[in-house]
Order: sequence, then C-alpha cells, then structure tokens
Amino acid sequence: MKLRAVLLLAAICVAPHVAVRADDACTDETCASHLNDLRGVLANAEDVADYVVRLRRELHLQPELMWTEHKTSAVVKRELTAMGVSFEEISAPGVVATIGSGSAPVVALRADMDALPVTEESDIPLERRSQIPGRMHACGHDGHTAMLLGAAKVLKSVEPELRGTVRLVFQPAEEGGAGARRMLEDGLRVMTPPIESSFALHNWPYPETPSGTVGTRSGTIMAGSGSFEITFTGAGGHAAVPHKNVDVVVCGAAAVMATQTIVSRLTDPLDSALVSTTIFKAGGEASNVMGDRAVLAGTFRALDKRTFEWLHGRIEHVAAATGAAHGCDVNVDFFPVSNGVRHEEYPPTVNDARAATLAREVATSMFGDDAVVDVAPVMPAEDFSFFAEEWPSAMMWLGAYNVTAGATWPLHSGKYVLDESVLHRGVAMHVAYATEFMSTGFRG
Ligand SMILES: *[C@@H]1O[C@H](CO)[C@@H](O)[C@H](O)[C@H]1NC(C)=O
Repeated sequence: MKLRAVLLLAAICVAPHVAVRADDACTDETCASHLNDLRGVLANAEDVADYVVRLRRELHLQPELMWTEHKTSAVVKRELTAMGVSFEEISAPGVVATIGSGSAPVVALRADMDALPVTEESDIPLERRSQIPGRMHACGHDGHTAMLLGAAKVLKSVEPELRGTVRLVFQPAEEGGAGARRMLEDGLRVMTPPIESSFALHNWPYPETPSGTVGTRSGTIMAGSGSFEITFTGAGGHAAVPHKNVDVVVCGAAAVMATQTIVSRLTDPLDSALVSTTIFKAGGEASNVMGDRAVLAGTFRALDKRTFEWLHGRIEHVAAATGAAHGCDVNVDFFPVSNGVRHEEYPPTVNDARAATLAREVATSMFGDDAVVDVAPVMPAEDFSFFAEEWPSAMMWLGAYNVTAGATWPLHSGKYVLDESVLHRGVAMHVAYATEFMSTGFRG
C-alpha cells in the first residue's frame, strides 16, 4: 500500500526540532492555506480504508465487555507492533501508543474498545456477526478502535514530518466503567510532555448526521449521567389487612411519580434534565401477600454539571420524604453494583470552543461545507467527558446513518449496523485534528 505524503506539514508554519507553537509560527493567511492542504490527509485515509474495515470486522466477531477487553487489546498491540509504533499499557487492557517527535505539543486521540451485553440480531451475514451470544459491539467501538489503528498507520508513515507528539489512547470500559478516568489516574494525566488537547469520534447512525457528514458543537454535547437505586423496606403481611402492614409497592409507585416530578416542577424548563425509573422490583409469587421490600432503579441526567450535582440531593430528598409518608425505611445508592460492576457517574461532555472550531475547520477543508453539521446536545453520556475536563477537547459525531447500508438502527440496539463506508473519514479526522493541532495549535 502506498501512502501519499501528508502535504500539510510541508513548508508552512515550519518549526525546527523543538516544536514551536504555531500561534507564533503562522499568520491567519498561512494557516488558512494550511487547511487547504488537508485533502492529502483524506487521500492517505482512503489508502488505509480496507485495512480499517478488515480490522473492524475482526473485532466485531469477538466483542468483550468492560475491563475484559484482552483480545481486543491484543489485536491493538499486534497491529501497533507490526507498524513499529511504540506503546505502553495504562490501565490494562488500556493501551497508549506514541507517534511523533517526542516533544511538545502533544495531542491525544482516543478510541474506546468495549462491547455491550446485547445479543446481535442485525441483518448482516451470519459469519460477520458477533460470534458470542449476549455480547455485541452495538455501539460501534470496534469501528472506533479500527479507525484509531488506521490513524496510527497514516501518522506513522509521516512520522519524521510531525511537529509534535500524538498519544493514541485505546481505552477500556467506556460503557459505564469510567475507563477514561482510570487511565487519567493511572498515568495519562502526568505523561510528559503533557497532553494539551484530546479528540474523539463517535459513529452516529441518526438521520441528522447521514453518512458522509460529521457533526459537533462548542460547549456541552452530551449529558452528565448517574444511576440510582432506591430500596424501600417495611413489614408486609396479608394483603387483606393493609392497615396493619406497610405497603412498599404503593410507596415505590409514589416514588416513581415523585422522582419524575423533580424534572417537570423543580428544574428550569430550559435546563435539560431527566430522571427515569427503569427497574421496579417488589413482591413475590403470591398475589395476596404484601412484600417487605421494593427496589427502584434508574438513571438521571443533565446537561449542566451543577444541575447534575443538584439532582442527587433532590432524588435523595424525594425518596426519603416518600418513604416517610408511607412508613417505609429508605436507602438510596448512587453507585449500585450490577453483575459485579459498579455504575460510575460521568460528568457532562463539554467541548472546548477552540477545539470544536478546529475540528470543524479541518472537517470543512476535507469534506466540504455541506458535510459539516452543527448538532444539538444529546442526553446519552460518555466518559470522554473526563478527558474534556482535563484538556481542551472535542468530541465529534461521525455521521453513519445510511439507508442503503441498512445503518438506520440506533446505538445499543441488537439490530445496530455500522456503516463501514464512513470509517476512512474518521481516520482522516483523527489525523487532521492531530496534525493541525501540532502545527498551528488553537487559533483565535
Ligand atoms: C451508504 O452505503 C452504501 C452501501 O454500503 C455505500 O455504497 C455508500 O457509499 C454509503 N454512503 C455514504 C455516503 O457513505
């Protein structure tokens, strides 16, 4: 496979061995002509498209749940080794690869590796589906990992030209395990020279971002997310004498309605938040027996971090007051454990305005104006939020809604299909964000 030289790093904004931050090194005019040269990056990405699709298909067969991404990590390390890219393990199975000069500026590109406890029911050929019942790459992290390996290949091919250092972060446990936070704690935060910005993509199979487009926004793009589990206990008894018992079912039902009302009556209608009770367990086999215990569990989210923090107290208060009204004891747990895994909280994902602008600019220069969409924030959450709290960063949607490809099912559905024809665009975005950041930095 031949790789065309990355043109953008040619003559303009040259920094000698020590990387000079481009803010000093290029003017508005030269930076603009810089962007015009990003088509070379897209061509390089097209050259690795088949490689990326092949890897993505390999990973799709063997999905692994959070913190068990050992085979996936082995594939990542195998490919990096074959490319001659050095890497280290941080929060294994997490892997951080390094390409570039070894000096500042340093930019991080991130992919997540874990799959979901979903059984694949998609319409792709049987031999290409997940080979493991109850596990599926239903969020497309196989594609994210493959794209970052594609980016590694392109970046490695132009390594002598790079004016800085790229850390390629392959992280475990995005789906609720806060793998990103663990990687920060385990060393990513203190790597030297320090990381100055990070970038990530999420495939986005929704009509607002058809295949061929990308989308992002400045500021909050995804919600903060937490879980709650409320346990009501009280002495049950014969259902025919309710006045002598505590009815945990009525108490739980009241709590379902009362927690809903937090959002409708206590939050500003312009400040998006939600509280959803998704689990309600109570009672046993007998219809004439009142049980002793009702368990409610669910999720709560908000776009604003203060609102998100504030929701904790409201949920606790509503649960306690409802319990008191019905004579139940109450326990509220914000970090419930299910299947041996503790639910972690994710703060809102807030894009830095300069990082989002840079991502939009490189996208426009590669894909054209019409292909770059301004998107609205959404209520799902991402642990890339921890990176975005650490460094000025951008999360971008890689449009992947494609009727012809059958890619119209939502993320986390057993029918979900990833449109592979967009993967090279994701490679191009990773490479272009990194090289532009290293050569020109944030502008303005
Ligand atoms: C949509 O999917 C079809 C079939 O896989 C593919 O040929 C086409 O290139 C895709 N469209 C875009 C814009 O990527």
